[in-house]
Amino acid sequence: MYMNNFEFYNPVRIIFGRGSIARLSSQIPASSKVLMVYGGGSIKKNGVYEQVKDALKDYEVIEFSGIEPNPKYETCMDAIAICRDQQVDYIVSVGGGSVLDASKFIAAGSKYAGDDPWDLPAKGAEVKDAIPLGCVMTLPATGSEMNAGAVISRVSTSEKLYFGSDKVYPRFSILDPSTTFSLPPRQTANGIVDVFVHVLEQYATFPGQAPLQDRFAESIMLTLVEAAAKIAENPEDYDARADVMWCATQALNGNIGLGVPQDWSTHNIGHELTAFYGLDHAQTLAVLWPGVARFNLTNKQEKLAQMGRRVWGLSGSDEQVADACIDRTEEFFAQVGMATKLSAYQVDAVEAGAKIRERFTQRGVMAQGERGNLTPEIVEQIIVARA
Ligand code: NZQ
Ligand code: ZN
Repeated sequence: MYMNNFEFYNPVRIIFGRGSIARLSSQIPASSKVLMVYGGGSIKKNGVYEQVKDALKDYEVIEFSGIEPNPKYETCMDAIAICRDQQVDYIVSVGGGSVLDASKFIAAGSKYAGDDPWDLPAKGAEVKDAIPLGCVMTLPATGSEMNAGAVISRVSTSEKLYFGSDKVYPRFSILDPSTTFSLPPRQTANGIVDVFVHVLEQYATFPGQAPLQDRFAESIMLTLVEAAAKIAENPEDYDARADVMWCATQALNGNIGLGVPQDWSTHNIGHELTAFYGLDHAQTLAVLWPGVARFNLTNKQEKLAQMGRRVWGLSGSDEQVADACIDRTEEFFAQVGMATKLSAYQVDAVEAGAKIRERFTQRGVMAQGERGNLTPEIVEQIIVARA
């Protein structure tokens, strides 16, 4: 057993802490024409909009609002038209993961030489160039602030697809934990669960020779559990909000996944649940992960037993602890306020299972998970079992 070979590159400058939005202007070349991208208006209620406008007062700023959660290709295309017409030099994303993912797509799509930027996620077309972008992140969850990926939804075809490129790494990400005080409980819970499952996708697999990555992953889970309890008591606990924010970044900036086997089947299946039924991203994860883990209990036993002992303080044989670790993790999702069954969202599990089986079969996605043992038929069974 040895650590898998890896190469690591991450150029994102992180500017962290209270008051750091004022640093925005120091990051953007003078006389740039800036497209400020944001969502449905949360930034106008929590003071972030004013802070950003103030920091950008010396630039020519075009505002583009209305990016939806699970950002839509159709909306991004309107922004791409503006970038092309107005020759935008820099994009600043202000909001959660959806606004940032949309901004990445707008940045790459604006420079795409082919007919339709949808080729980037749909055909894996290469990103040859992108408008530089930076962000003010207001929702710790996706890790998009320090990674090169984005997930875009297309309404007309009920698709939700990933694309990634080094060209869309944010040049900088401003993380001010106090911007997250205004998160509604549902979004706080979404964030905590998304981060936790990012860790699980890269940790709860089969053992590799990577004790440092394992302990990084465990420390993120432990920190999240502590912080979640503090935030439940006091949503304006700055330290706890800061912990969650930094955990989110660390969970998906590449670091904990270096040289280790990875799963990602929960995410892939979850994107289909969102595409067909509109569940929030993290809601799909809380429903699916326990099912995926239970199906692969034997394959994941050693890591789940390690996690059960080190994160949840369980004791017993590997078999017992691994089993109890899945239950304890599902309980944690419930504790932070997240449903873990499809019935909570009025989704017919049998119908969902059949639709998603068909879709993976059509796309030729025949072997998911770290062992490649999740066929479309198994995926269907997992979904049906989460009714
Ligand atoms: O649109 P506004 O009005 O800004 O409101 C948002 C939105 O309604 C609100 N919100 C954000 N910050 C707030 C706030 N409300 C009050 N106070 C604040 N400080 O929260 C709602 C949800 O926002 P959204 O950006 O959709 O959430 P999240 O950050 O969880 O992003 C989810 C998207 O990211 C993708 C998901 O699939 C989903 O499309 N992911 C991206 C990844 C990546 N790029 O690496 C990885 C993830 O696994 C994930 O797939
Ligand atoms: Zn996620």
